[in-house]
Amino acid sequence: MKLLHIDSSVLGPHSVSRQVSAAIVERLRQTTPGLDIVYRDLTATPLSHLSGSLLAAAQGVTPTDPAVQRDVALSQAVLDEFLSADMVVLGAPMYNFTIPSQLKAWIDRILVAGKTFRYSAQGPEGLAGNKRVIVAISRGGFYGPGTQAAALEHLESYLHGVFGFIGVTKLEFISADGVRVGPEHREKALASALQAVTKLEAA
Ligand SMILES: Cc1cc2nc3c(=O)[nH]c(=O)nc-3n(C[C@H](O)[C@H](O)[C@H](O)COP(=O)(O)O)c2cc1C
Repeated sequence: MKLLHIDSSVLGPHSVSRQVSAAIVERLRQTTPGLDIVYRDLTATPLSHLSGSLLAAAQGVTPTDPAVQRDVALSQAVLDEFLSADMVVLGAPMYNFTIPSQLKAWIDRILVAGKTFRYSAQGPEGLAGNKRVIVAISRGGFYGPGTQAAALEHLESYLHGVFGFIGVTKLEFISADGVRVGPEHREKALASALQAVTKLEAA
């Protein structure tokens, strides 16, 4: 069984989502003998934004620029890594009400028509439904239903939409909320997220 672990926080060792995603991976490693883990750190090794040349190559135009050729190969590797994973653990902090741009660049590489979704007469159809995806979310404030900021929640709702679009139905979120409200809140949010990790179903 293969697990793809992805982090996208820019805060390194101070990151909450990194601590929670690492705990999720550790829990799954302990409960799944022989788990093959692949790690991608989207801030240590960022993916570039989409370019016209990259999209042209995807349409069959052979790139002559070596930099574009490398980017095309990287795109394929990132997509293959995702497609071959049985489980994906994603560290996703909230920056300016949504995902970090590094994570968006990764999503731009994995939402590929004909690979992870297709359009049919019945509308869009997800092709990547054979995976379990667990997202470790960390937010500075509170965005639950009824809160003042609820309308600004574009992190969990966005990821819900993205993974739903490509057919993932086994989608779980573990959240640490209110980590910027104060140190006490941060500790409480982290402890509660780590507690939720211990309750995760084994693979
Ligand atoms: C650049 C930046 C933007 C942020 N924007 C928001 C925001 O819009 N809403 C929020 O609740 N918290 C925001 N925060 C706080 C983070 O969500 C919080 O610190 C969280 O722990 C980040 O996850 P991380 O610790 O894994 O990096 C922001 C933090 C940073 C560094």
